[in-house]
Amino acid sequence: MKFFIDTANLAQIKEAQELGILDGVTTNPSLMAKEGIKGKGPVLKHYVDICNIVDGDVSAEVISTDYEGMVKEGEELAALHDQIVVKIPMIKEGIKAIKYFSNKGIRTNCTLVFSAGQALLAAKAGATYVSPFIGRLDDVSTDGLALIEDIRLIFDNYGYETEILAASIRHPMHIIECAKIGADVMTGPLSAIIALAKHPLTDTGLATFLEDAKKFA
Ligand code: G3P
Repeated sequence: MKFFIDTANLAQIKEAQELGILDGVTTNPSLMAKEGIKGKGPVLKHYVDICNIVDGDVSAEVISTDYEGMVKEGEELAALHDQIVVKIPMIKEGIKAIKYFSNKGIRTNCTLVFSAGQALLAAKAGATYVSPFIGRLDDVSTDGLALIEDIRLIFDNYGYETEILAASIRHPMHIIECAKIGADVMTGPLSAIIALAKHPLTDTGLATFLEDAKKFA
């Protein structure tokens, strides 16, 4: 399972990268705004800064909603760095844009996916990644993990190579359940990744080992 971090915060990206388990980064306009980045130049520079920290894929989202605009923006983003994956919303125009980029060999991440039908369309258009937002579905009393299961089944039925990127991860159990289902990638906050390492029996066991070690030091 690939681990992506879902943030535009450079300090957190560095911290995750230093753990040695980071495979990529996903961003979105809200995450970029949260870092106070304003204006086209600084935004593009920020994507390059992220690429220079991590080795893997970095999703950069278009903000146009028409086909021509998405193509223009996506080409500009893709030209920034070979690690950039163009993130495109699951709307009608977005499907056309994903197909365009797929034909050109430019990688895409289809975002804002909330149904199996949307995921199927993204795969048919040739998306590299499809991003179902499981936390936001849970927020409206709908089973986000059930969607991951449905998409896994559909993609396996037909051998689609599009990777399932479980997004809107909120806590470590989301990551574990997605791994059990067979999501290809998860993207989540650093806190959820770090939480995977925690167990009270590890802490008390280590405290005992260190105490006992003093007896023969
Ligand atoms: O990158 C998109 C997605 O992960 C959003 O997560 O927490 O805003 O629902 P969240």
